[in-house]
Amino acid sequence: MERLAKIARKLSDASVKRYNSPYEEFQWPDALSLDDWHFSPELISIYGLEEFAALSEAQQKKLAFWETVNFFGLNIHGEKALIGGLAEHLYYMDWSPELSEYLHHFLDEENKHMTVFGTFCHRYGKKVYPDKKLSFPRKYEKGEADFLFFAKVVIFEELVDHYNLAMGKDERLHPLAQHINQYHHNDESRHLAFGRELSKKLFEQWAPTWKPETVAGVQSYLANYMVSTWREYYNPAVYADAGLDNGYALYQKAWDAPVCRAHRQAVSKSCIDYFLENRMMTEAPAV
Ligand SMILES: [Fe+2]
Ligand SMILES: [Fe+2]
Repeated sequence: MERLAKIARKLSDASVKRYNSPYEEFQWPDALSLDDWHFSPELISIYGLEEFAALSEAQQKKLAFWETVNFFGLNIHGEKALIGGLAEHLYYMDWSPELSEYLHHFLDEENKHMTVFGTFCHRYGKKVYPDKKLSFPRKYEKGEADFLFFAKVVIFEELVDHYNLAMGKDERLHPLAQHINQYHHNDESRHLAFGRELSKKLFEQWAPTWKPETVAGVQSYLANYMVSTWREYYNPAVYADAGLDNGYALYQKAWDAPVCRAHRQAVSKSCIDYFLENRMMTEAPAV
């Protein structure tokens, strides 16, 4: 883990330098106007469909607002699971002190992100859309649960970060939405560097000790996890809140539409390539 310890050391130094308080970082207006964009139109889940093109700009902005509440909610649910798993891995087994030190920063940063996303959703959307992920307890081989946890973190964070990076730079957005995306991206770039390195390391360390069916199970589980993560970007409740009819049919249509599939594949490409190169997946997931 020497290389990983060095990376963790560097990332901890960077986290200390960029230490911030979300309470000082953001100004929260009492209300937001739906005359502003809060989500980049091209990233809206049904962008490219005729149903989107048929909307007036005011309707598209309303939909963009609810897509923001959904996207920030996805972050909240992902981070909630993340915080639990990170806490479990503090001072873990024979892991180096540098890893624990960095996990403290990781955990601290995720907790702050949740307060930011939670404030936005509660204050302006008056809700957080519920988490749809289900998990079933089962037995793991040694090292398997650790690997899966960190590999899932990478998948979840890579997809989110694509949106954060794009919207953090999007000057059309209301300054608050733009700032939240930018702020999140700044921390996430460190988390991603760490997550990629640690998941690869854990796979190299443990996969050779697993039964072949465990290795195959892990690989297909991660592919399925990426698909189910993507499905949450399409939410019938969002379409209903935006005043669109037949939310579920729209969800299904968007999921199946070639234009939306092309978007998902482009966004996932670098993450999938990394998993394939390092044998953590054997074929590209059908996103
Ligand atoms: Fe985060
Ligand atoms: Fe993160």
